[in-house]
Amino acid sequence: MYSSIRISPTGFLSGQVSVPAAKNSVLPLIAAALLCDGTVLLQEVPELSDTDIACKMVSATGGNACRLPSQHSGVARRTQLRIDGSGVRESHLPENYMGQMRSGIFFFAPVLLRTGRVTFHTPGGCKLGDRPVDIHLAGLEKMGAKVTQSVKKTLLSAPYGLTGCRFYLRYPSVGATETLLMAAVRAKGRTILENAALEPEVLDLVAFLNRCGGRISRLPGRRFAVEGVRTLSGCTFRPCPDRIWASTVLCAVAGCGGEVTVSDIPPRWLTGLPQLLQRSGCRVEYSESGVWLQSPGGDQLHGIGSVSTGPYPFFATDAAPILGAALLRANGYTFIRDRVFSSRFLCAKGFAELGAEVVVSENTLQIGLKHSKILKGTALFAPDLRGGAALVLAAMQAVQQSTLSNAELLYRGYAALPEILNALGADVTAMDSL
Ligand code: EPZ
Repeated sequence: MYSSIRISPTGFLSGQVSVPAAKNSVLPLIAAALLCDGTVLLQEVPELSDTDIACKMVSATGGNACRLPSQHSGVARRTQLRIDGSGVRESHLPENYMGQMRSGIFFFAPVLLRTGRVTFHTPGGCKLGDRPVDIHLAGLEKMGAKVTQSVKKTLLSAPYGLTGCRFYLRYPSVGATETLLMAAVRAKGRTILENAALEPEVLDLVAFLNRCGGRISRLPGRRFAVEGVRTLSGCTFRPCPDRIWASTVLCAVAGCGGEVTVSDIPPRWLTGLPQLLQRSGCRVEYSESGVWLQSPGGDQLHGIGSVSTGPYPFFATDAAPILGAALLRANGYTFIRDRVFSSRFLCAKGFAELGAEVVVSENTLQIGLKHSKILKGTALFAPDLRGGAALVLAAMQAVQQSTLSNAELLYRGYAALPEILNALGADVTAMDSL
């Protein structure tokens, strides 16, 4: 892991990449494995700091999680994870782990079902604005959990287990949908979730739970029906590919110029990103399992007007700052409005320090108001995971070297981002390791 990286001016990129497993699928799957009465083997899991923390959370509850060598040698930083939840006895989720990542929320339901209670402090994670867990708690409460909240600590108790119900999510929250699917799969009776999230990572969790003996079915619209079961077996499961990782590589090439084939990702999962890059002047071709993109370089692209993010299948909020980086030097404006979080564009400060004309107003990143053909090197700071990645992509387009501090954030969501970009022709080097 590295705390700062140096990014040198980058010419055209080219190559082929295969998309690794999705961080945002692996993390709920690690927690869901605690619901199983058998051992779970997750395959081709990228080595990320968030998965390390999730494994420590498993151990802290009394479960067992260990990394095994990848089946495919030589694949960058991917391993197998073996998880056994049979020893879960501890109901307190350690504050130091909860504080480091949002994904501690995935342990609410499994630990509650395993031990009859769960206590936790406010979850941490990327500072994207207010990130309450009210929908998680409202759903668990409706299933029979008793919720007791103090200033910083929450206690959920359900000594007699949970009971299925009909629950409408006031917002199609990814995490809350995953929490309530995990709760419902082992609850007594039937649950209907309405206005649920439909991200590929949510459907991956459904596939995993059903592989273990769960009875979850997708209903028309944003609805799931779950018949609770008494036990779940273990299974071997390969998490779905990482659509944000794929978007990051496509935007790196769009911004620097060159061409890339990104394979092992269904194009529809990219929620329109390739089409937006095509609108800016890139050439894009699709196959069943991937995307080919060719770009003349960021200063030859043109702005794409207004774009909004939203819950899947709308354009992904996580890809918003990354798309912004690709279009920083485009001729013409691009306004990217994030409708999911209130502070998605903290990286705009870094874009401006590189010399780009950017404004953030009402959750909208406005770029290209003046044509910024030249970006200059500077010292940058990663404000969050995707903002940090966006600053790397922007700095690669500058005419001088830049540095990025707080770069350990990148390691939360990208196993070996420098190596991936350098394999395509970039020059990104870790300056020191923690
Ligand atoms: C997941 O976060 C992802 N993280 C995020 O990716 C992603 O940006 C987000 O979904 C949206 O797609 C993981 O899966 C680990 P939400 P999550 O609950 O579950 C509000 C990355 O960079 N909300 O869908 O936390 C919330 O405040 C990360 O990989 C409530 O109000 O997202 C936000 O405004 C960043 N109450 C909106 O819903 C709740 O109880 C979307 O949040 C829950 C959420």
